[in-house]
Amino acid sequence: MDKNIAVIRGDGIGPEIINEAIAVLDKIAQKYNHKFTYTDVCMGGCAIDKYGEPLPDAELAKCVNSDSVLLGAVGGAKWDTVPGHLRPEKGLLKLRSGMQVYSNNRPAKIWPQLASASPLKESIVKKGIDFIIVRELIGGIYFGKHETKEQNGEMCAIDELIYRESEIERIARIGFETARKRNKKLCSVEKSNVLDSSRLWKSVVTKLSREYPDVELSHMLVDNCAMQIVKDPSQFDVIVTENMFGDILSDEASQITGSIGMIPSSSLGSTTRGVYEPIHGSAPDIAGKDIANPIGTILSVAMMLRFSFDMADEADAIEDAVSKVLDKGYRTADIMQEGCIKVGCSEMGKLIIDNI
Ligand code: IPM
Ligand code: MG
Repeated sequence: MDKNIAVIRGDGIGPEIINEAIAVLDKIAQKYNHKFTYTDVCMGGCAIDKYGEPLPDAELAKCVNSDSVLLGAVGGAKWDTVPGHLRPEKGLLKLRSGMQVYSNNRPAKIWPQLASASPLKESIVKKGIDFIIVRELIGGIYFGKHETKEQNGEMCAIDELIYRESEIERIARIGFETARKRNKKLCSVEKSNVLDSSRLWKSVVTKLSREYPDVELSHMLVDNCAMQIVKDPSQFDVIVTENMFGDILSDEASQITGSIGMIPSSSLGSTTRGVYEPIHGSAPDIAGKDIANPIGTILSVAMMLRFSFDMADEADAIEDAVSKVLDKGYRTADIMQEGCIKVGCSEMGKLIIDNI
């Protein structure tokens, strides 16, 4: 198959981890007879430097016209002082909404080889950690009106949080469908004891559950969910939640698996074209030192092959290779354990390719 992939290297460690991910794609192309072509897209701090904005329309158009987008990471201290509407993160939000990828899928799964890296007690880890957070990605407080103004002699800031029934229903549907393919348990997370948007969320999800009698639906308040994720993560199969709650809970969930550097993500809309990225950030402090962990990005490539290109065997081959490399004791600095062999970013990439 021929696929055109838009590649956003971004800032910080972005370019290094993307190099390894592309080398993996090239290996897959060679082994399985595919042709992947790459279109470079400039987004984030590097786009602010070059064009004065984090994602020019022409760059977004390249993404919209691609078969899928592979993204490293954007942002860094250098751009912390630019006005809010020009921050590198705004490029990411423009990409998500421009591509209409409303459903962000973030797995929290512990690799058995890294179980001891989890900050949770062994007795908790032993019960198993394997759940998915389905996060609504293009609505809610991220996309409401943002305003800072003077009022009665002091500054006042407003961030608007809107959810429409249709937005809730389409993401809830993804939650139910995802659960249906797994252990058939869906937990809808909100703050319905305080927020109107959450009360609407809960009622729409409840109504939709009639179409999914085979899926066991539960409801949980977000503060309780944050607690339950560290108390007993084995209780979760699929969590569906709104944009900001999903942002926060997915970072928490990644930590209990040992390293945020291992976690991939997919963002999809109503077509097969998606955005694939590791969930960690640009880590400017370790950029250019060849010590970043490329596995989250490489596993994001596996998700792209599986979900957007219908290449399940190829995706399995990548995931198996990662597992083999971990079995052999190779670790990047962030997941280093006693008795293991420490390798850099490019070496880790090479080891995974050798095992495909
Ligand atoms: C994420 C990130 C982004 C988000 C930032 C960089 C805008 O934290 O993908 O989780 O909040 O969505
Ligand atoms: Mg986040």
